[in-house]
Amino acid sequence: MCGIVGYLGEQQAYPILIEGLKRLEYRGYDSAGVALQCAEGMKVIKAKGELSALEQKVGNGAPIGHMGIGHTRWATHGAPSDANAHPHCGCSEDFAVVHNGIIENYLFLRNWLEKEGHRFASETDTEVLAHLVEHFYHGDLLQAVQKALEKVRGSFAMVVMCDKEEDRLICVRKDSPLIIGLGKGENFVASDVPAILNHTRKIYILEDGDLASITPDSVEIFTPSGDPLQREAIEVNWDAVQAEKGGYPHFMLKEIMEQPHALRETMRGRLLQGGREISLPELEMNPQELRNISRIYIVACGTAYHAGLVGKYAMERLLRLPVEVDLASEFRYRDPILDENTLMLVISQSGETADTLAALRLARKQGNKVLALTNVVGSTVAREADNVLYTWAGPEIAVASTKAYLTQLLSLFLLTLYLGKARNLLSRSDLENFGKAIFALPGQVEQVLERSEEIRELAEYLAPWESTFFIGRNVDYAVAMEGALKLKEISYIHAEAYAAGELKHGTLALVVEGVPVIALATQMNVIEKSVSNIKEVNARGGYITCFAQEGTTELQGEADGIFYLPSAPDFLMPIIAVVPLQLLAYYVAVARGCSVDKPRNLAKSVTVE
Ligand code: F6R
Repeated sequence: MCGIVGYLGEQQAYPILIEGLKRLEYRGYDSAGVALQCAEGMKVIKAKGELSALEQKVGNGAPIGHMGIGHTRWATHGAPSDANAHPHCGCSEDFAVVHNGIIENYLFLRNWLEKEGHRFASETDTEVLAHLVEHFYHGDLLQAVQKALEKVRGSFAMVVMCDKEEDRLICVRKDSPLIIGLGKGENFVASDVPAILNHTRKIYILEDGDLASITPDSVEIFTPSGDPLQREAIEVNWDAVQAEKGGYPHFMLKEIMEQPHALRETMRGRLLQGGREISLPELEMNPQELRNISRIYIVACGTAYHAGLVGKYAMERLLRLPVEVDLASEFRYRDPILDENTLMLVISQSGETADTLAALRLARKQGNKVLALTNVVGSTVAREADNVLYTWAGPEIAVASTKAYLTQLLSLFLLTLYLGKARNLLSRSDLENFGKAIFALPGQVEQVLERSEEIRELAEYLAPWESTFFIGRNVDYAVAMEGALKLKEISYIHAEAYAAGELKHGTLALVVEGVPVIALATQMNVIEKSVSNIKEVNARGGYITCFAQEGTTELQGEADGIFYLPSAPDFLMPIIAVVPLQLLAYYVAVARGCSVDKPRNLAKSVTVE
C-alpha cells in the first residue's frame, strides 16, 4: 500500500503534491518523492523516511513547475532507501512513474530489459514500469503505457509522466485504487480522496483495467485495448478526517473490512495452480534442510503470539513435528533449548517489538537461523533475520491488530503446506483441497463482514458488563485468546480466555446468571466435547453465544445465540472465526465510548522491553 498524487494545471504543483502526500501518509511512510516538469527538464527528488525528510531535503529550493507526481511509500520490493523511493525513472529522466501494488513478473521483465540495454538504479519492482514505458515510447505516451501493460502481471495503480509530453499524465488502475479529481483548468490524480479534498469534491473513481489520459482541461478514460469509456463523475461529501479512513469512523473498522483484500495480497503469487503449487522463494532453504527440521520454535508477543499458537495446531497436525510457542519476553530468560535442526520463527507485525527482536538476536547468537514473519519491509526484524516471509496486510494504523493477525495466520498455513509438501507429507489431492479452501477464505471473510449488524446486536448485550469469558477447545482456544485480548484492549472489559474443558477446574465459579460467555465451537473433531462444556455454562445461567461452522447441528438448543460461520477445513477456521470477535470488540468499544484506535496505556509499536 502506497500513496500516489498527481497534479497538472495553473498552480505550482509542488505544494499541492506535498499537501496531498501528507494526507496519504497513513498508506505508507518509509520514503517519499516527487517528480516535476520544470523549465530546465524533469526534476526528481526523493528521500528515505517520513515526508518531512523530503521537505527538509527540498528546503527553500522547491522545484517550479505546473505538472508533477508524488508518492509516499510502503516498501514491498527493496528496503526503504532514497534509491528505492518513487518516482522511478527509465535510463533517462524523461520518464517518471509512481506505483502502488506489486508487479509479479518484475524479475523476468528486468532481466529482459537489461538484455535490451536498460540500466537499473533500484531494487524495486516499480522501476521495470519506467523502463518498459521508455522502451515502448515512440512519440505517444498513452500507446507506450498500453504496450508496457501487455507485458506486466500483478496488481497496480500507476501514474506516468514524460518530459517530452507537456501537460499530460497517463494513469492506470488494476486492483489498486486510483481516483481522478476534476478542477477548472486543472486536474488531480490520487490513491484516495483525502489527498485532493481541499481542491475538488468532484471525482472519477477508476475501475479495474481503466487507463486515463489527463490534461489540465480534459480527462479521457479508455479500456486496456484503447477504446474510449464513459465513467460518471461523483460528488464526495466526506470531511477530510473521514476521508482518510475511507469513510469509516475508525481505522480499526477500516482495517477489519480490508481483511479480504489483505488475504488476497498475502496469497498472491504464492499459491499457484489451484493450490497444488506453493511458492515461497523467500525461504531459500534447500530440500535437505527442509527435511532435516526436527522442531519448530515460534516466538512473538501479543496478537502475533496468538497467531503463533494457531500455527502450532496446524503444524503439529499436518507436519507431525513438535512446535513450541513462546512469548518473546519469556523466551530469552529461560535459557531456551535450540539445536541446529530447530526452525526458529519470529512473528511481528511491526518488526520493531523490542522483546521479539531480543529473542531473534539471542537465537542468532546461539547459531540458529531465524525466519521472520513480518508486515513491514525493511524493519529491524526483517533486516536481522536470515529469511523473511512478508505478510502483505498494508500499513496497520489502529493499535489493535486485525488484518496483520489474519495475514499472519494465512502465512503460517502457507508455510505449513510448503513444509508438508517438501517433506512429502501431503498428497497432491490434500494440497489441491487445502489450496481450494484457502482460495475461498477471502470470500468467506467477506460473508462474515456482511453480517456485522448481527454482531453489533450482541455487542449491545455485552457492553454494560465488566467481565466476560471466551472459551474453546483445540485451536478454538487460541482464537478465544485473541478474541479476549481484542475486547480487553479496546473496551476495557475484563475478558478471560479459557480452554473450554478447563473451565470446571476453577473458573466456572465465576459464571453466574447472565454472565456473557463467547463459545467457539468450530472444531468438528471435538464438537461433542465442546457441546458438553457449553452445557456446563448453560446450567449456571451464563449467557452463551456460540460461533460454529454452518451445518453443525449439535449446538441447537444449547445457547442463547448461534452464529453460523462459512465452513472450511478445521485448521483454517481461525481465519473465519476471529472476524466476528474483532467486530464484537469494536462495537462494544464504540458502545462504551472508548478511544478505539488509540486505547489507553498502549502503543502501536512496543520498542521497550
Ligand atoms: C494487540 C496488538 C499487540 C501486538 C504486540 C506485538 O492488538 O496489536 O498485542 O500484537 O504488541 O506487536 P508486533 O506484532 O508489532 O511485534
